[in-house]
Amino acid sequence: MSSILVTGISGFIGGHVWAALAEREDIQGVYGASGEVPLRPERQLHADLSIIDSLARIVAKMEPRCILHLAAISSPIICGKQSLLCWRVNHAAVRELARAAQQVGARLILASSDQVFDGIRGNYREGDTPDPINVYGETKKAAERVAFSLCDDTIVARINIAFGRPKFFGSSFSEWILAKEERGEPITLFNDQYRSPIDVLTLIHALIELIDHPFKGIIHLGGANRVNRVTFGKMLLRHLGRDSSGIFEMQSSKLDPEGTIPVDTSFDITLANTVLDTPIPGIEEGIRITYAPQQNGI
Ligand SMILES: NC(=O)c1ccc[n+]([C@@H]2O[C@H](COP(=O)([O-])OP(=O)(O)OC[C@H]3O[C@@H](n4cnc5c(N)ncnc54)[C@H](OP(=O)(O)O)[C@@H]3O)[C@@H](O)[C@H]2O)c1
Repeated sequence: MSSILVTGISGFIGGHVWAALAEREDIQGVYGASGEVPLRPERQLHADLSIIDSLARIVAKMEPRCILHLAAISSPIICGKQSLLCWRVNHAAVRELARAAQQVGARLILASSDQVFDGIRGNYREGDTPDPINVYGETKKAAERVAFSLCDDTIVARINIAFGRPKFFGSSFSEWILAKEERGEPITLFNDQYRSPIDVLTLIHALIELIDHPFKGIIHLGGANRVNRVTFGKMLLRHLGRDSSGIFEMQSSKLDPEGTIPVDTSFDITLANTVLDTPIPGIEEGIRITYAPQQNGI
C-alpha cells in the first residue's frame, strides 16, 4: 500500500500529527533522540538526521507517496550555537530527502518557518523575498530552495508560531507562559515582536489536508490575527481564567542587542484561506480549540 511518512513525530507539531494519523494502516512515523512515541510504536522508526542520508534511505526502501517532513532543529538559539549541525539537519538532510522523494515519485511537504523573513515589514505573503537574519532562517530558506529544485511535487508550508499543549513530547510558547504563571514567576514578554500565532490543532488539520491537495508551492500557515507577544500572553491567560498580572513588557533589543530575532514575521494568510477547507481561526478561538477541556483528557 502506498503510504505516508511523517518525520519529527517526537516533536510538538509532529506529535499532534501522529496522534491524528497513527491509526491509519498506510502510515509510518520517524522519531529522533527523544525516542518512541507511546502510540502505535510498531509503525515507527528512528532516524538521526545528522547522518544526512538517513531519511533518504528510509524513503528509498519504503517508497511512500507523501512525506510530511516536520523534523528539524527548530530552536533559533540552538541553531545559532550549533550552526554546523543545524545546516546538516535542516538543509543537507532535506537535500537528500528531496532527491529520494523525486526518485520514488513522492510528494514532499516541508515544514518551513516565518523566520525566513527579516521581520522588517511583517504581513508577509508567499511571494515575498526571504531574507533571514539568523542561522535557523538561513537553513530553512536553503531547505525550501533545494526541495523545490530537486522534487517536482513539493509543498513548502511556512509555519508561524504554533501554540497549544503537547500531545507527547515537545512544547510551545503558550505552555512556557502557562508554566511560568503556575509557578508564580514573572513572565517577561516582548512587546515589539509581532507574530500570527496558530493553534496546533488547526495547523495539523491544514498540514494533513495538504497531503492529498492539488496545491503545490509555498503556503503560509499562521493564525488570523497579528499580535505581539504581550498581547498574546494576556489573551491566553485571560481566556483560561489565569492571572495575567505577572506579565512584564520588554523590548527585544534588551535581550537581543544584535537583532538576531526578526521583529515582525506576521503572515498574510489569504492564500491558505482561499486554497484550504480548514478554517483558520483568530487567537481566542484558537485558544478555545486547543485548550478545550476535552483535549488531552483534561
Ligand atoms: N512550533 C513552531 O512554532 C514552529 C514555527 C515555525 C516552523 N516550525 C517548524 O515546524 C517543524 C516542527 O516543529 P516543532 O515545533 O514540532 O519542533 P520540535 O518540537 O522541536 O520537534 C522537532 C522534531 O525534529 C526531530 N529532530 C531534530 N533533530 C533531529 C535529528 N538530528 N534527527 C532526527 N530527528 C530530529 C525531533 O526529534 P527528537 O526531539 O526526538 O530528537 C523532533 O521530533 C520544524 O521543522 C520547525 O522548524 C515550527
